[in-house]
Amino acid sequence: MSVVKVRTGKAYEVHIERGSLSRLGTQLKAIKPEGKVALITDSQVETYYLKPSVDSLRDAGYDVVTYVFPQGEAQKNSDELLKIVNFLADESLTRSDMVVALGGGVVGDMAGFAAATYLRGIDYVQVPTSLLAMVDSSVGGKTAVNLPSGKNLWGAFKQPILVLCDPDTLQTLPEDEFINGCGEVIKYGMLGYPELLDQLEASPLVDHPEDVESVIEQCVKIKAQVVANDETEKGQRQFLNFGHTFGHGIEKGSHFTVHHGYSVAIGMAMMMRAAGKAGVLSQEEVSRFLHILEAHHLPTTTDVPLSTILDIAKHDKKSHGHTINLVLPAGWGYTELRTTTHDKLAAYAVL
Ligand SMILES: NC(=O)c1ccc[n+]([C@@H]2O[C@H](COP(=O)([O-])OP(=O)(O)OC[C@H]3O[C@@H](n4cnc5c(N)ncnc54)[C@H](O)[C@@H]3O)[C@@H](O)[C@H]2O)c1
Ligand SMILES: [Zn+2]
Repeated sequence: MSVVKVRTGKAYEVHIERGSLSRLGTQLKAIKPEGKVALITDSQVETYYLKPSVDSLRDAGYDVVTYVFPQGEAQKNSDELLKIVNFLADESLTRSDMVVALGGGVVGDMAGFAAATYLRGIDYVQVPTSLLAMVDSSVGGKTAVNLPSGKNLWGAFKQPILVLCDPDTLQTLPEDEFINGCGEVIKYGMLGYPELLDQLEASPLVDHPEDVESVIEQCVKIKAQVVANDETEKGQRQFLNFGHTFGHGIEKGSHFTVHHGYSVAIGMAMMMRAAGKAGVLSQEEVSRFLHILEAHHLPTTTDVPLSTILDIAKHDKKSHGHTINLVLPAGWGYTELRTTTHDKLAAYAVL
């Protein structure tokens, strides 16, 4: 088993091991031996993993209640959140009890937010089952739901007490969801880890499922380090937004038909091409990076017009007045933060 420590205010561990879902109960026992468990999942993850999770928790002696909501991003809303919180209250969960979020980022964000606010906060455990949730959303303590006017607008910071990651669960993940997660995996390579880029270039994750456990571990280590240095997103955590400024423009501009990881891939490609044009990267480095994306079946361009992407970026929450903070390529495997004005934004984007 690989164990990654996340050194936030209240430190916690991420356990990464194949087959570990069946040991959820015993692993949790070592961290929080007493308490009732409210296990929350979505309708798709339920079919594969609810029973083994509940069995494992009950075998370890926990009293378990379960709540399942329909799968999909559309469910990540305030109505569904309220249903979850009411469920916790109906089941009389107390402050010494806990929530277990079993699923992708949607389950993690929503169950986490419910745990952050129910009784002013109770413990919760993340059991991520999508690649994106394993490498990104389950670590770092950001929780939220969407509002009609935008994504993740209502949320809280709340670190879990344990993250248990079983890479074997990825066997049932739909292929496009796996590729979606690869967008974020490749992003981590640009945050000071050229060796990760080199590895993904030599052995694309989509063709080498045997590498997935070690790649998840590398990504979680990177995210854990960034988060520990900046728990509430005031500085270093901004680096995690590489590719996201234009990525959000593509997601929104395509009316969310281009999914998050795919949009981030295009957002990164746009910045890498611009960095090549500006001489920050060599043309060879730019094409190597584009090849890594393509080898993971990710797109590098879009039909969404550049003007739309730039317009949306200017209204991004990273935008303040007429300036915007950008995470720019600085070399092979490296990025830097820069504040620029809206009128110069186009110089950093080549479609
Ligand atoms: N909190 C954070 O820091 C953070 C970071 C990144 C993204 N997010 C959020 O995460 C969400 C996206 O997460 P996601 O991509 O995991 O989406 P998701 O939770 O909707 O999961 C994608 C799909 O895969 C299914 N699924 C998950 N695991 C499966 C498995 N093992 N087998 C079969 N099907 C499985 C789900 O039912 C769903 O249909 C977004 O709402 C985003 O805002 C949060
Ligand atoms: Zn992202």
